[in-house]
Amino acid sequence: MRKNSDSVAREAGGFLMQNMSHAVMAQRREPLNSADDFPTPPWATRALVEHVIGLDRVRDATCLEPACGRGYMSGPLREYFAHVDGFDAYPYGSNEIRNFLTFPYEVGSHDWVITNPPFRIAEDFVARALSVARKGVAILARTVFLESVGRYERVFRNAPPALFAQFCERVPMVKGRVDPKASTATGYGWFVWDLEAKEQATKVVWIPPCRRNLERDGDYQVSCLSKAAIPS
Ligand SMILES: C[S@@+](CC[C@H](N)C(=O)[O-])C[C@H]1O[C@@H](n2cnc3c(N)ncnc32)[C@H](O)[C@@H]1O
Repeated sequence: MRKNSDSVAREAGGFLMQNMSHAVMAQRREPLNSADDFPTPPWATRALVEHVIGLDRVRDATCLEPACGRGYMSGPLREYFAHVDGFDAYPYGSNEIRNFLTFPYEVGSHDWVITNPPFRIAEDFVARALSVARKGVAILARTVFLESVGRYERVFRNAPPALFAQFCERVPMVKGRVDPKASTATGYGWFVWDLEAKEQATKVVWIPPCRRNLERDGDYQVSCLSKAAIPS
């Protein structure tokens, strides 16, 4: 049956709307001077340790979370690492203020540097983290961070991560809070630089479905996590 011009226009409109809304959801645009305050649901950090790095490598290690916000990532890291320091360039109530890109951290001051940085300065965070960490760097970023000629030239050509771990589940992030009911069209993965690895080629792995197993009571309550943001 031939379609009339109305139904063709409706379909085209629907297609456009679908793609526009996908693009909007996938881009999380923030003003240039924004803190990019999108906290990480705690289960996504537990997934890094339990499914990617491994408990044995963190038990006796120190860790820096250099953009800790309210502590939704430094809190879960403290469940595994021997010691975790958390700082942020902006005040969230209990954190000490340090701009990661300008604070004079010593080379090798921490075994690991782990964070979910503001996307627009994520490359600077990677470069800085690689000079601060002794054993490894793990950066949670949108999967599209893998792309672009510029990023290849500035980051990945000379310093490819040892591992890229793609979440097969979505990791919903919303501005200023964590929300167990949030959804997202954006894919995320952990980019891991293992500074002790001999292998040069980047390995790609999938983080299996784990949200249900790794969520804990109180994960979405500010009161119990805000304490974890206090730098020790
Ligand atoms: C996407 S949020 C992630 C927060 C926290 N890492 C988490 O995963 O829940 C990015 C964080 O980076 C902080 N930030 C932005 N620029 C920074 C800088 N130059 N140095 C340190 N922290 C910064 C923001 O205040 C915000 O808390």
